[in-house]
Amino acid sequence: EEVLPHRVAQLLRDARRVVIFTGAGISAESGVPTFRDDLTGLWARFDAQQLATAEAFHADPDLVWGWYEWRRARVRRAEPNSGHLAITTIESRIPDSTVITQNVDDLHERAGTPATIHLHGSLFAPRCMAAAAHPATFPDQPDGEAAEPHEGRRISPPRCASCRELVRPGVVWFGEALPEAALTAAAEAATACDVLLTVGTSGVVYPAAEIPRIAASSGATVIQVNPQPTPLDRIAAINLRGSAAQVLPTLVAAAWR
Ligand code: APR
Repeated sequence: EEVLPHRVAQLLRDARRVVIFTGAGISAESGVPTFRDDLTGLWARFDAQQLATAEAFHADPDLVWGWYEWRRARVRRAEPNSGHLAITTIESRIPDSTVITQNVDDLHERAGTPATIHLHGSLFAPRCMAAAAHPATFPDQPDGEAAEPHEGRRISPPRCASCRELVRPGVVWFGEALPEAALTAAAEAATACDVLLTVGTSGVVYPAAEIPRIAASSGATVIQVNPQPTPLDRIAAINLRGSAAQVLPTLVAAAWR
C-alpha cells in the first residue's frame, strides 16, 4: 500500500475550486465494465461500430436498444463504490466542486453527487428520435414483460408516447456532438479550477479528453488516479498508480483526518 504523498492531501485540502473528472475506471470496482481494459473492456468484446453509432441504431434498432438495455440492467444491479463515495466527501469539504463524467451510469448520482455533468449522456435518459428531440415519454415497460436483457438479446425500442417516433438510448454515440451545455459547463469549470482530479479515464476520446488538458493549460494542478499509465501522465503533476476505490478514500482520509 503506497503511502500517499502528504503533498497530495495538502493540495486537495487547500483547493478552492476542484474539478473531479471521471471515466469508466471509477465504476470498474462496482462491476461495471470499462471500454479499453484488455479482455474485460467492452470494446474488446463488442464492436463499437455495430453498437455505438447512429448508423448502427438505424440499421438494427433492436440489437442496439437490447445492448443498451443489457448495460442499463447491469448498472441497476451495481452499487456506487468507495471511490464514488469519497468524491462526495470532497464535494462536502470543498463547496466549489464540479463532477464531470464521461460515464453513462448513474453511480455518481446514487452515491450522492448532486449535479453530475454527463458529457456522454446517460443510460437513464432515453430520448425521442423526433427532430426536436425531447425526453422520451413512454410507458415504462411493465416488469416481467421486459425480457431480461442479456448481451446480444434484441429488444425493440419503445415508441415515444407523445409522437410515436422511435426512442433511442440517451447516450452520445461515436461521431455525434456532445451536449453543448454540458461541454460548455465542463470547459468553464476546468478553466476556473485550481485542482483537477482525473480518475479512471484513458484520456483518448475527444473532445472529453480536452477537459484535463484545459485545466492544466489554465494553471490548475492535475492529479491522476489510474492503475495504468495514460497519455494524461504528461500533464498530471501527480500520478497515483492505483484503483479508484482504494486511492480516493485514502486521499480523502489523509486530507481531512
Ligand atoms: N480504478 C481507476 N481506474 C481504473 C480502474 C480502477 N479500478 N480500472 C481500470 N481503470 C482505468 C484503466 O486503466 C483505463 O485507463 O480506467 C480507464 C478506462 O479507460 P476506458 O475504458 O477507455 O474508459 P474511458 O476513458 O471512460 O472512455 C472514454 O470512450 O468508448 C467511449 O464513450 C465512451 O465514455 C467513454 C469514452
